[in-house]
Amino acid sequence: MTSAASPVLVDGLDRPLREVRISVTDRCNFRCTYCMPRSRFGPGHAFLPRSQIMTVAEIIRLARILVRLGVRKVRLTGGEPLLRPDLEEIIEGICSAGALDVALTSNGALLAPRAQRLKDAGLHRLTVSLDTLDPQLHRGISDSGVALQTVLSGLSAARAAGFGPIKLNAVIRRGLNVTSILPLVEFAREHGDIMRFIEFMDVGESNGWKRSEVVGGAEILAVIAARHPLEPIADGTVGQVARRHRFLDGRGEIGVITSVTEPFCGGCTRLRLSADGRFHTCLFATAGNDVLSLLRTGSDDAAIAAFISRLWVVRTDRYSEERATAERRDPRLEMSYIGG
Ligand code: GTP
Ligand code: 5AD
Ligand code: SF4
Ligand code: SF4
Repeated sequence: MTSAASPVLVDGLDRPLREVRISVTDRCNFRCTYCMPRSRFGPGHAFLPRSQIMTVAEIIRLARILVRLGVRKVRLTGGEPLLRPDLEEIIEGICSAGALDVALTSNGALLAPRAQRLKDAGLHRLTVSLDTLDPQLHRGISDSGVALQTVLSGLSAARAAGFGPIKLNAVIRRGLNVTSILPLVEFAREHGDIMRFIEFMDVGESNGWKRSEVVGGAEILAVIAARHPLEPIADGTVGQVARRHRFLDGRGEIGVITSVTEPFCGGCTRLRLSADGRFHTCLFATAGNDVLSLLRTGSDDAAIAAFISRLWVVRTDRYSEERATAERRDPRLEMSYIGG
């Protein structure tokens, strides 16, 4: 049921369900200022209690149902997914559930000792957040005791385990790390990795987002092209968040993720599942749809598949396209909870 024969569940704007992003924990060992600022995620913050977090078996069961509904790609996110000691079991189970592409987004701090095990578990692709190569600035942005060097060692271990090319994510914020753009490009080219620059987004209610701090993709591309000429890659792939560009000298590619200046909702084939088993039809959702209760009260697979289908067919979310005109709504869920 995963090839051309897989069913196509289409939403209210004609977008097929193809990808699920599963947040396996809402906890993180970083406190990135644009995501989990310490002022809001301090010792008093109520993280999900363990009893409300999906078990390995629950995640795998949902993955199997989703694959039967047409999902091909599963991305594991958080919080920081490597905080879960059973992450390898989750990956193995999702692979055997039939997902064609299983990927992970991590901050890299705990990667060095785990990279080989992740590879052995069957993980296909790895993305690591890396906002700067300046150790002081890295400490400031991640607001954790983890040194930049620890993340870089994690990247080396991941390349040695066979994960290259690794995607590296940098959120660019005006006044903070614009000067990190070129060093990051050089670093990625040197190691055969793919740098992706992300516009600072207004996710959640905690990160103090201001439009004036957004550095647009066009500006980022101009900074890079002035040093290393680029051309767009027209790969025709629908559902991708990054606009890809290749270096004219043939040494790799980069991507810009322009959710603010050039939204990509038209091709959004992503469903999100938070660690407490709630489905969200948009990164900017204000509420979720509880499937974990269904699992725990004995619903069979058919009932759960029907629940997911009902959610998807009525979906009309396109927040990023409506950002400028959207009326103030209920508080948005936090990125660390909803899963990037
Ligand atoms: P691949 O395309 O599978 O390589 O990964 P990805 O780019 O979808 O995943 P990643 O976790 O690296 O996300 C990169 C950035 O894109 C993050 O800042 C995400 O929050 C953002 N992003 C991912 N999906 C969406 C989406 O549906 N809408 C918006 N607005 N942003 C998204
Ligand atoms: N805007 C843009 N990207 C963000 N991320 C976290 N918070 C934000 C935000 N407010 C990025 C992380 C990670 C990815 C999953 O999402 O840096 O790489
Ligand atoms: Fe943690 Fe990633 Fe959020 Fe940073 S961006 S606080 S690493 S979940
Ligand atoms: Fe999809 Fe919502 Fe992101 Fe638009 S804003 S691409 S609908 S998740």
